[in-house]
Amino acid sequence: MKLVIAIIQPHRLDAVKTELEAVQVNLMTVTNVLGQGRQKGVTEIYRGAKEAGGLLNKVRLDIAVNEDFVNPTIDAIFKGAHTGSLGDGKIFVVELAECIRISSGERGGCAIG
Ligand SMILES: Nc1ncnc2c1ncn2[C@@H]1O[C@H](COP(=O)(O)OP(=O)(O)OP(=O)(O)O)[C@@H](O)[C@H]1O
Ligand SMILES: [Mg+2]
Repeated sequence: MKLVIAIIQPHRLDAVKTELEAVQVNLMTVTNVLGQGRQKGVTEIYRGAKEAGGLLNKVRLDIAVNEDFVNPTIDAIFKGAHTGSLGDGKIFVVELAECIRISSGERGGCAIG
């Protein structure tokens, strides 16, 4: 199991969601966050209001997947979020030790989807 964490431009969320659903990835957590990349927000000012300290509005996706879904999930996020511009975002993949569905008590891979 892996946890795929993606930080994307807010205006790409709908496109990313469409691409994820096309590969049957429907379960996700979406959070509005502030972030800064290597430009510290400076070159992205023209896209919208600059936040204090160089932090810009971004959207974070948290998606827990079984191994077979790791690459399809990464590819879908990339396809939906990539414009070729600075600030397009980043994808992090981390090992996921456990998943427990609280309603049923299921654990592990069968609790993910
Ligand atoms: N190393 C990192 N650690 C944690 N969060 C990061 C890291 N790099 C990027 N992020 C998050 O991802 C968001 C988007 O990053 P961004 O796409 O600007 O990365 P970048 O490395 O600056 O690449 P680019 O040069 O293409 O802009 C940041 O605003 C921040 O929230
Ligand atoms: Mg950047």
